[in-house]
Formats: sequence, C-alpha cells, structure tokens
Amino acid sequence: MGNYSTTKTEIKNYIFARVPLIIIQSAERARVERMIAETAREMRIEVTCYSDTKQIYRPGQDTIRDVESDPIPFAMELLRRKRGTTFVLADVRRVSEENLYSREIVNLLYLAAEMGGTVILITPDPVWARIARMGMLTRLDLPDMDERTAEIREFVRRYGSRYSIAWDENDIQRASALLRGFTEIQIDNILSSALVENGALDRRHIYELTSQKSRMYEAAAGVQEVRVSGDLRISGLDNLKQWLAEKKRIFFASEEELAARGLQTPKGILLAGIPGCGKSFSARMVAREWELPLFKFDIGSIYDKWVGESEHRMADALQFIDNVAPCIVWIDEIEKALSVSDSSNDTGQRVLGQFLFWLQESSSRVFLVATANDIRKLPPELFRKGRFSEMFFVDLPTAVERAEAITQYMEQCLHRTPDAGSLQELVGRTKGFSYADIEYMVKEAAQKALLYGDDAVSSDMLLELTEKVIPFADTNPDVVSQLRSWGNSRAAAASLPEKGGNEA
Ligand SMILES: Nc1ncnc2c1ncn2[C@@H]1O[C@H](COP(=O)(O)OP(=O)(O)OP(=O)(O)O)[C@@H](O)[C@H]1O
Ligand SMILES: [Mg+2]
Repeated sequence: MGNYSTTKTEIKNYIFARVPLIIIQSAERARVERMIAETAREMRIEVTCYSDTKQIYRPGQDTIRDVESDPIPFAMELLRRKRGTTFVLADVRRVSEENLYSREIVNLLYLAAEMGGTVILITPDPVWARIARMGMLTRLDLPDMDERTAEIREFVRRYGSRYSIAWDENDIQRASALLRGFTEIQIDNILSSALVENGALDRRHIYELTSQKSRMYEAAAGVQEVRVSGDLRISGLDNLKQWLAEKKRIFFASEEELAARGLQTPKGILLAGIPGCGKSFSARMVAREWELPLFKFDIGSIYDKWVGESEHRMADALQFIDNVAPCIVWIDEIEKALSVSDSSNDTGQRVLGQFLFWLQESSSRVFLVATANDIRKLPPELFRKGRFSEMFFVDLPTAVERAEAITQYMEQCLHRTPDAGSLQELVGRTKGFSYADIEYMVKEAAQKALLYGDDAVSSDMLLELTEKVIPFADTNPDVVSQLRSWGNSRAAAASLPEKGGNEA
C-alpha cells in the first residue's frame, strides 16, 4: 500500500530479513523491475529474474539463459547452489488458486526458506492463500504526484529540444495533478500522443489531457461530463472570482505543502441567489478557470425506491468521480435532490448526506459547485461549517457589473463597444435587471442586426428594448428581499460591494 519509495523500503527490509517470499502487487511490471534493480544496487546483492520475453536475466540487462518458459527448475537449482539467493518471477501463471503450477511455487518457497533465499513474485492478481501465507505482501500504488511530476519533467526534457514544449514548472505540476490514476506507461503514451497530434505542447493542451480520462472509465448513472467552451466570458462576480483565484492555488498545492500546515484542499462552494445572475454559469467558470473537467451530478437520479439501490448507485458514482479526479463536480439546484424525500422517506437527504460526507473525508481532489434557488428547502445541516468551503450569495448585478455585462454582450453579439454616454444611460435603465435579462436584451438587438445589418441597431433601439424586459425583481419583490436577507446574514457576496451599497 504505498508509493514508490515506501514500497522500495519495505522490499529492502523484507530482503534483509530473508523473508522467503515477497509478493509485489502491481500491474506495472517495468516500474517494479526498476525498483528491484535499484534495490539490488543499493543493497549490493545479486538478483536473478525471469520473464516470458527475456527468460533468465539480471535486472536491466539481457537474457543470460533460455529456460523454455519453465523457470522453476532453474530457480530451484539456483537456490540450492547458493545460500541467500534472490530470485524474481516477473511473469507468473495462475497463482490465485490451487493448481499444478501454484503447488510448484509452494515447493520452491519451502526450498527458499530452507536455503535463506527470497523469491519475489510480481503480479496484479490475488495470490492463493497457501502461497501468500509463506511471505509478505506489498502493493505498489499507481505513480503519486511527485513521481508523475518527475516523469513529466523528464518527458519535457527529453523532447523539448526536438519539439516546442512551452510548459513551465507550474504547467508540469498541473499536468501531473490531472494525470492522476494513470500508470507510468499510460502517462508516457498520453503525453506522446498529445505531442504527436499537436506537433507541440503549450498550456492549452493540458486541459485536453483530461478528455482521455473520462473516456477510460465506465460511465456512472447520474454523472455527465459537461464540455466548457474556451471563450466563455463572465461579467462581474469579482469577489467570487478573487476567492476562486486564491483557492485554485491551494487546490493544486502539493501534498507536502498541505500536510506541512495541516490543510486540506478546498471542498466546494454553495451558490444561492436571484435567478439569472450566474449561479449555474459559475460552475462552468470554475472549470474553465481551474482548467479541470466538469461533471454534472444529477443526484436526484440516483434515488431509487428499492432499499439499498440508491446507496449502491451512489457508491458507483463516487467511484467514478474518484477515478476522474481532479475535477469539478456540479450539482445544480441542490434542493431538488432533497425533494425526492417525503415524510416517511428521507432517501434524498440521506443520499445527499452520503455524498457530502464522502466529499469531506475524501483525499481526492474534487471541488463541488452546488447551486440553490430555494434556500428555504435546504436542511440546516447543509450549512454546517466545513461542509462547504464558502457559501456565496449571488445578487442582481450592481451598476458596475451591469456596465461590464452590457459591454460584454455588445462586443460578443453586436461586435461593437458602447460609447461612455450611451453605456451610462443603459446602466441606469437596466436597474433591477439580471445578467440573463441583459443578455436577452442585447440578443434581441443582435437578431435585428443579423436581419437588417449592423446599422439598423442604434443606441435608441437598445434603450427601447430595456422597456420590453420585466425583471424578476419587479414581479417577485418578496422573493428577492427574502433571498437578500438570507444572503446578507449567512453568505459572502459574490460581487464586490458597490460604493454606496447596491442600489438595485
Ligand atoms: N455574470 C454573468 N456574465 C455574463 N453572462 C451571464 C452572467 N450570469 C448569467 N449570465 C447569462 O445568463 C444565463 C443564465 O444564467 P445562469 O443559468 O447562470 O443563472 P442562474 O443564476 O443559474 O439562474 P436560475 O436560478 O434561473 O437557474 C447564462 O447562461 C448566461 O448566458
Ligand atoms: Mg441555474
């Protein structure tokens, strides 16, 4: 159960203690062989290996004897001839059960015990109990963050002279975080194919590495990947943006940096607020800014009336999320997950609780963005400290934010920037508008521009269009004031405060 260096130390100790059998559970034979070669060099011992392709060889060297794929007699002979022999079986046949071969191995192990020798088995499979009882088992986990970083650094060094690879140390760290869950060989393959496909590697390609990942694992019910466009623009919400920029650095900090200060990675945010102000949009923004894959998690669909089935599906979903981490998980309108409960049955809440508990305890790097429209429906446990790293209240855009949004949508849809005067006027007329209202208004004008040409859209037309929008705040003033009183007392503002307060 360890990374490269802990497993290596374990193996050294076992060899030193002359344990007759060491089982190294791993599917990465080359990596284990390298470890054994290093161990042999460092301990100054001679090690002999067998594999189907190389037959008998010394680690890191060529074949020394062809035993026609039957290494056992050779190993027996070696153990008998020389006390303290270390022999590695890098290819084993069916050792998970009793058969002729596994009984032969048992005999080999008796001989090893008698002659003070050690047999090392490398296998990804479980081992028959009678064999396992004769020795020690250690498992080599997939490469950890440091190993991946070292491997990627080496890759960049090796190919950097022939190809243009514009990855700095930060990018290497990020790529390393994303390539969690892959074997050493897979990492090399992914990097090589990305390099061949693009002819070069720059920052943009790091995100592409993640698409490989979700394809590798079987999909889980309720979890769906959402592709985020690279040119996503989002106005305002500067306080949220600042917070996210800071937390991003912590999310990607190394294990050592975190451990040294007793920290965990940030676990997630809850966004509540007025409709059309960017709660759902923000989930995409986090994924884009952090350059992580985004998975929408429909927790309601996990629910099943059969006892145990919901928990089972949740376990599958969590396994999937764990495999594809680091990632952003987005639960939209979290209160809906709870609405599947009724007085006699609280499955919705239990399933959600199971998820939040997992999130809190999990060591994988998963960041949750949950949105809520109706905070009254949320159980108070959800707000307990530590559940979410922060709760944000998304209010109607302030004047500064409206100016930014109007400019953004005019540039995007009308291909022009408003002059200061008309912008000022539009900002005044859109008081109480949500971002979605502003978007709607500008897009109405953009339709006219498409039909009748850009000149057909004047500043006056935009001003007239503001009349056509009936903001949510006008039709639902009570909801807005309720949301605000909750937001102001329980949550942080997503926007920066406006001088003189929010006038909307
Ligand atoms: N800050 C923003 N900047 C630019 N556009 C925005 C912003 N916020 C929202 N929009 C636009 O408005 C649309 C609706 O926003 P979004 O879906 O995020 O609202 P919401 O807060 O989730 O609302 P609801 O409560 O109705 O789900 C977005 O798809 C986007 O086009
Ligand atoms: Mg929404």
